[in-house]
Amino acid sequence: MRRVPVLIAALSVGVGVALRDLLQKDHAILRNFPVLGHARYAIEAVGPELRQYVVAGNNEERPFNRDQRRWVYTSAKKQNNYFGFGTDNDVEYTPGYAVIKHRTFGRAVPRSEPTAGHEVGLPCAKELGAVRGRRESFRPASVVNISGMSFGSLSGPAVEALNRGARLAGCLQNTGEGGLAVHHRHGGDLIFQIGTAYFGCRDGDGRFSLDRLKDLVQSAPVRAIEIKLSQGAKPGLGGLLPAAKVSAEIAATRGVPAGRDCVSPSRHAEFSDADGLLDWVELLAAETGLPVGIKSAVGDLEFWAELTTLMAQDNGRAVDFVTIDGGEGGTGAAPLIFTDTVSLPFQVGFARVYKTFAEKDLHERVAFIGSGKLGLPDNAIVAFALGCDMINVGREAMLAIGCVQAQKCHTDTCPTGVATQNAWLARGLDPGRKAVQAANYIKTLRRDLMRVAEACGVEHPGLITTDSVEILDGRTAATGLHRVYGYTPGWGLPAAADRATIIDLMTATEPQGGAAPHSSTATGQHPPNPHQGAIPK
Ligand SMILES: Cc1cc2nc3c(=O)[nH]c(=O)nc-3n(C[C@H](O)[C@H](O)[C@H](O)COP(=O)(O)O)c2cc1C
Ligand code: SF4
Repeated sequence: MRRVPVLIAALSVGVGVALRDLLQKDHAILRNFPVLGHARYAIEAVGPELRQYVVAGNNEERPFNRDQRRWVYTSAKKQNNYFGFGTDNDVEYTPGYAVIKHRTFGRAVPRSEPTAGHEVGLPCAKELGAVRGRRESFRPASVVNISGMSFGSLSGPAVEALNRGARLAGCLQNTGEGGLAVHHRHGGDLIFQIGTAYFGCRDGDGRFSLDRLKDLVQSAPVRAIEIKLSQGAKPGLGGLLPAAKVSAEIAATRGVPAGRDCVSPSRHAEFSDADGLLDWVELLAAETGLPVGIKSAVGDLEFWAELTTLMAQDNGRAVDFVTIDGGEGGTGAAPLIFTDTVSLPFQVGFARVYKTFAEKDLHERVAFIGSGKLGLPDNAIVAFALGCDMINVGREAMLAIGCVQAQKCHTDTCPTGVATQNAWLARGLDPGRKAVQAANYIKTLRRDLMRVAEACGVEHPGLITTDSVEILDGRTAATGLHRVYGYTPGWGLPAAADRATIIDLMTATEPQGGAAPHSSTATGQHPPNPHQGAIPK
């Protein structure tokens, strides 16, 4: 008998919804199909989750497919990150597929220790700022570092997890352009990024303040400064953090008023050409003592031609490092036309810029950093072969701390607390646990890079050459990476002295020899490798 009132109530709600649908004019589907039409919106809303969890194959989704995400998740949790039965990639028929060529008898003997590159560091083959004699020049301890993602686009707990993770993994965290927050101060070394709004180093009127910059970098373990010219996902575009997201904490970090729209202009006020940029680089380096570099996406090459021409003529001015971000790179929020179409993808853009430096013989004097889905070992190896000395990981590090690729970063409703300022959602992310996951992921990536380097017969990923990579054209042919990008022999490698140093560092700190004891040795020592320590050609 109790069912009758329930039925009447349900019917009244149905009639009410139907009447509202019929009378409203915003949605044609609801006017034409009252009540039933809501199913379409419900399915649309859960469509991404349905595709992600139920429909999509292992290699279908983007930016990161299920295999790639699984590799990051399992690496971050130190679970079994192997895949069974062989590749499910369409290796035979995919044009553009990069293949790494191992060597049968390489110079470097592969190691069997599971800790190689994992618990043992993998330093950069170049020192940042050494060529220019910067007072605080240094050799980064890790070739994998955390890309700039500002506090504001990421939650406080996410920034803290990445900073603690950087400390555990012995790598650098780039602050991103949103200033240096309290969440960046948990022991991880930093690269301080300066964007067009000079957040964290601006005066009350929004002008760049050298004094504030100096105070800031002295107050935290800042090891280098990066001037952001652009990023791959939205080059040439300013940014806006809406008033609702400008909390008192974000306002204090950025040096802007709370509760008001926070605008990043599209251009720098301190310089407007390559000449002015170099003056500013030298000013910042002289005043802080830190290495100073630039981050940019790649479009027109005129800027790079001007920059390298000035650096080649004028030994008094130079950037210490160049970070190239691919058009496939990530962002908290950007218009679709920019994320999809503006700026070159990483490999094409990086190779063009590298060549511009190499043609003027400047490639060995600058450290190159790459980003744009390089937190996956296969992409990273191609980047190292093309001349990257280090890689930055952005979204892959987000995955490591719990991001499920819901792609709602721009809505402030991130379900995992990674990219939101909603206090309730952010509170779900435990920085201590996630820091360990971030570090595990970075260490595992380093270990895989080491394994591939040694399979290619070299002691360090920075020594992998373009000869070790081919790009498949389809079913029957492949082209060497050097040919694809027009590289001259020797391009892509550090200078001879840097190569010798990194080989020494790697062979001094890392045990050599992954083979069983030789039958002729009573001591169990492998016979010495005659090529050990030789400098690559
Ligand atoms: C949430 C988010 C915030 C970002 N914020 C910045 C930033 O403040 N400055 C910057 O130069 N790049 C920023 N980026 C771009 C990343 O640093 C990186 O260059 C890009 O995502 C490519 O690396 P990935 O493919 O490993 O993510 C951001 C990216 C994401 C996903
Ligand atoms: S879970 Fe979704 S909304 Fe959150 S950071 Fe990842 S992609 Fe962005």
